[in-house]
Amino acid sequence: MPLRSVRIAMALMLASVCALPQVSPAAEDTSGQQAFNNACRTCHMVREGDNRLGPNLHKVVGRKAGSMPDYGFSSAMKEAGFVWDEERLDRFIANPDEVVPGNSMKPYGGLSSSEERKKIIGFLAQSR
Ligand code: HEC
Repeated sequence: MPLRSVRIAMALMLASVCALPQVSPAAEDTSGQQAFNNACRTCHMVREGDNRLGPNLHKVVGRKAGSMPDYGFSSAMKEAGFVWDEERLDRFIANPDEVVPGNSMKPYGGLSSSEERKKIIGFLAQSR
């Protein structure tokens, strides 16, 4: 191959590398996601159907507690008999046993910072 076409080929290769999408600093507020990652992601995903140690939290705001058939909830959670709303979630992640006595969300120490809870609930409410 003549040297000139080698150079052109290399230039084309470089150009295509540079055209890869750049990882740009996130413009939107990611603190809710971060707070969720810190406190909940060890056990929960928000992706639909993705149950780990805990059930997935896809569209949890508006979902009946303990109602997903493909996850093995404690009987306490199955019989909780309410629909998750923001207020209920706030009290639950502050102190799960106060809202659903006998639940199996363990080991989880509760999140005392109302600031963090608010961020997480905002994040969950958006995951729809
Ligand atoms: C140590 C693992 C663990 C951590 C950490 C954890 N969870 Fe859970 N979570 C569970 C388990 C296990 C259950 C099922 C409880 C049951 O069946 O009684 C659960 C249940 C829930 C439910 C009820 C879901 C439903 O469908 O009724 C919600 C809501 C929830 N968790 C939110 C959170 C949030 C928000 C955080 C972070 C602040 C969090 N959890 C942190 C393990 C965890």
